[in-house]
Amino acid sequence: MTDLAQLEADLSGRIAVAADVAALEAIRVEALGKTGAISELLKTLGRMSPDERRTEGPKINGLRDAVASAIAARKAALEAAELDARLASERVDLSLPPRPERKGRVHPTMQVLDEMIAVFADMGFSLAEGPDIEDDFHNFTALNFPPRHPAREMHDTFWLPEDARGERKVLRTHTSPVQIRTMQRLNEKLPAWIANGQEPPIRIIVPGRTYRSDSDATHTPMFHQMEGLVIDRAIHMGHLKWTLDQFIARFFETPAVESRFRPHHFPFTEPSAEMDVKCDRSGGDVKIGQGNDWMEVVGCGMVHPNVLRNCGLDPDQWQGFAFGFGIDRLGMLKYGMPDLRDMFASDVRWLEHYGFSAFQAPNTSTGLS
Ligand code: PHE
Repeated sequence: MTDLAQLEADLSGRIAVAADVAALEAIRVEALGKTGAISELLKTLGRMSPDERRTEGPKINGLRDAVASAIAARKAALEAAELDARLASERVDLSLPPRPERKGRVHPTMQVLDEMIAVFADMGFSLAEGPDIEDDFHNFTALNFPPRHPAREMHDTFWLPEDARGERKVLRTHTSPVQIRTMQRLNEKLPAWIANGQEPPIRIIVPGRTYRSDSDATHTPMFHQMEGLVIDRAIHMGHLKWTLDQFIARFFETPAVESRFRPHHFPFTEPSAEMDVKCDRSGGDVKIGQGNDWMEVVGCGMVHPNVLRNCGLDPDQWQGFAFGFGIDRLGMLKYGMPDLRDMFASDVRWLEHYGFSAFQAPNTSTGLS
């Protein structure tokens, strides 16, 4: 056997059993690399006579091509085997049960909001909204707040820096400014409505964020209120009381809740009241509709004539009532959450405990009586 035949037999034997791509690469360097055996043979061609070169050249080049293609073939085979092995080991087992996914929860405030909307929507209220950043006129002046009222002070209310016109806006301290915005709109549209013989009453609820400089177990700097406003030609306190009683019964899912109106003062309602409902505090948490204690749930009253006038409505022609619930507070009462601050602490563990499934219908199944 010639040297070349010997070299070819040796290399092709080793190529055939190379265990992986790295071993194959080592053989390639050894044979075809810069100082590899075949490369060295190719270098000898230069020193040969033309006759010798004519016979040896094709042999050496043939050897180089044969070894190079044997390496390429083996490499393809090794790579295919590696892929097969990976496909076998990484196979997805479709019969495995899925790993549990963490599900999002609906925040109690949003759940309570949906429940409140469901009840008021059944009573014919529609939704209205207004800006969180309000001007002094809508938040205070039009609502009949006297100039030195404490809510106008820096330490109770978040005031924004002066704007270019020297005006200071506020983060609204309640949802009542939307009363003003809605009545102003009514006033604008009134002539056209009257001309058409259709005078719709105002019957709105206004959910939204409100802000006060306050923080303890039952106060947070940001909280949620739901305003209610009804304006028509002959609205009286009986309508107000019926509406709130109906709401409380359905919201707390207790057919007969005893309530009382306690005289109170708000600049924008006259008379003003706070409504309390009967509750039982003996068991640690509060149960609405039982027991002998009272729990304040909502501020309310008849819209003050000055407020109607400030919106261009004649108080001899129009009357109405308004109320303002704390949405988060109602949620605390209904679902037994002790500290308001927890509601806005963004603690996922708290949310998993007190939150609601996104697919749960509002808990207001008792219907209007
Ligand atoms: N705006 C009042 C508050 O924030 C609540 C209220 C609304 C009272 C409407 C009467 C009528 O305390």
